Amino acid sequence: MSLTREDKLRELELLPAWRLRVARAGKVAESVADVTPVVLQPDVSAISWDALQQVVSGCQACSLAKTRTQTVFGVGDPNADWLFVGEAPGAEEDKQGQPFVGAAGQLLDNMLAAVQLKRGNNVYIANVLKCRPPQNRDPQGEEVVKCDPYLKRQVALIQPKLIIALGKFAAQSLLGSDDTIGAMRGKLHDYQGVPVIVTYHPAYLLRSLNEKAKAWEDLCFARATMRQLQSA
Ligand code: URA
Repeated sequence: MSLTREDKLRELELLPAWRLRVARAGKVAESVADVTPVVLQPDVSAISWDALQQVVSGCQACSLAKTRTQTVFGVGDPNADWLFVGEAPGAEEDKQGQPFVGAAGQLLDNMLAAVQLKRGNNVYIANVLKCRPPQNRDPQGEEVVKCDPYLKRQVALIQPKLIIALGKFAAQSLLGSDDTIGAMRGKLHDYQGVPVIVTYHPAYLLRSLNEKAKAWEDLCFARATMRQLQSA
């Protein structure tokens, strides 16, 4: 029995089977040059937390896979009521494999403490993108599209009561909106059936001290909303 292209590729161990979609053209690849791998993401919409972590750590769905040190899945309590979502890992996060570990992360911890919250204690922290964009450039549309199923599955598994979108990029990505952060603050939005509150990104607050008072208002709004959600 002759091998299909796909069988041959598996045999060659060019890429794990789940990453390849090779047309069954009835032709056997004789060499690497015959093969045009099409990167296919597995359907993660029904997989477990552990399986999701594994898929994310091996993800090759966009070009950020080539430049990252490691993926940054998220950190905290996977059954948390609170889910904080940032933009993408920075240099330090890429090195350590954890979100918000640099200066912005310290400020985020202070913001959490201001409303009696603590990383890992009923709190989960993740990003829209699981890989660092090189030179901290803005995330690109295709990267967001490719990473979106991962965050969606994280939300479905965590089932948070409330999501806090940190900064314009996270808010616009989650809400599919072009609105400014000013227009999005102070309202309850929705992501996959979960209420969303928008506030400033801690890295922005480090540069714009005047906005800290507004971030405090947002946190108070979030705390009051959470009280209502927890007592409903
Ligand atoms: N900024 C983010 O949006 N996420 C991180 O993990 C770190 C910095």
